Amino acid sequence: MDNQPRLIINGGKRLEGEIAVQGSKNSALPLLSAAVLVHGESVFHNCPKLTDIDAALRILSCLGCKCKRSGDTVCVDALHISENEIPDSLMRRMRGSVIFLGSVLGRTGRCRLSFPGGCDIGSRPIDLHLSALRQMGAVITEEHGYLDCETPSGLRGAKITLSFSSVGATENIMLAAVLANGVTEIHNAAREPEIVDLANCLNKFGARINGAGESSIYIEGVSKLSPSEHTIIPDRIVAGTYMCAAAMTRGELILTHCEPSQMNGFIPVLEQMGVRVYAYGGGKIYLSSRKKLVAPQTVRTMPYPAFPTDVQAPFTALCSTAEGTSVFVETIFENRFRHVSELIRLGAQIKVEGRVCVIEGVKKLSGAKLCATELRGGAALVVAALAAEGTTEISGVNYIERGYEAIEKELRSVGADIKKVQKIQ
Ligand code: EPZ
Repeated sequence: MDNQPRLIINGGKRLEGEIAVQGSKNSALPLLSAAVLVHGESVFHNCPKLTDIDAALRILSCLGCKCKRSGDTVCVDALHISENEIPDSLMRRMRGSVIFLGSVLGRTGRCRLSFPGGCDIGSRPIDLHLSALRQMGAVITEEHGYLDCETPSGLRGAKITLSFSSVGATENIMLAAVLANGVTEIHNAAREPEIVDLANCLNKFGARINGAGESSIYIEGVSKLSPSEHTIIPDRIVAGTYMCAAAMTRGELILTHCEPSQMNGFIPVLEQMGVRVYAYGGGKIYLSSRKKLVAPQTVRTMPYPAFPTDVQAPFTALCSTAEGTSVFVETIFENRFRHVSELIRLGAQIKVEGRVCVIEGVKKLSGAKLCATELRGGAALVVAALAAEGTTEISGVNYIERGYEAIEKELRSVGADIKKVQKIQ
């Protein structure tokens, strides 16, 4: 009996209205890891309600932290850390749990976790994380699918150059370095806003980090961190997804509680397509898409501040009904076009060759039964279904709910005909 929830969407409704953008999942996760380093209670505001955040809170509880949520505020008391093993079940549930490695090592000197597997979008190696931590004095043995990490003489500052500006590796190094002996340098560091948010929060806790947001970050180790409060930055990927949804339906949308300056990698692509985007002050963006959209110039996903890989899928959905030929080159992950076969079921005309995706815009899409297999690809199916004639049913809602808080409620509030049903067969 398949009673997994499904999204039922009757397409063709123009989106019009206002959505307040949730806090950033990809900032909240490293920030929750940072709480492990603090002797006391850290408070995080604007923390999104997502299954990935629930998984991170379970890990914190397993480590001995006391966690509580009140609305968008999450409190984590890490005064007593009694464990340094991350349960295999939670590692398998969220491979991003590897972000706890740096903080658990930094706080306790030991960490045991099962190898984070790959996922639908790629093999997701962590070699850059491990080689950097080894440079900082960690002794890491890999056997029987487990990583056993120890720091016999503590973590020491090191000069680290990343061969790729990995977001997770940059974050893990920062988390390991804040209590290490000496100064750590990270060169070719990731420059994402989530890196800056992590550094700002750690500095509030008493860390000494300079250069976050640039290619070189300097962390001077301190003896301890003290509790503080922090408000998590908005989720630029969720904002971009909702912008695609509004443009897909030729609608009008105001997004609030967002940061337009973090979206310069993809707003110009919307404008090339004929979408009007106007950034107010005070975290507001206005978008209007009245006329036929046209294909943008070739889009290449690249590290921040260029076009982010996480909005590639929603943009391919948007381009499926834009006039002309759109080309996307996915340079970050090796398998991030899995959603294309589902878009084709709606009538999209798309060809994928390795890391290149070529889309011939069609006049219309028509509803079908679809299956989401990963987070952003699932969101792309929702975007496309909003404009598809007739009814679309999307299974795999659990993937979408990893990163989008109440997506069906948000979209319904601006006019979409969408509901979540528990299907009993
Ligand atoms: C973060 O993943 C995000 N996840 C991803 O968002 C995002 O797509 C990605 O950064 C790129 O922006 C979180 O923040 C929780 P990477 P991460 O390390 O840290 C290779 C979403 O949809 N690599 O920058 O795993 C790797 O194979 C998720 O919210 C190595 O080779 O990304 C990939 O090709 C999906 N060795 C590339 O770097 C390593 O040790 C990007 O990885 C690490 C990474």
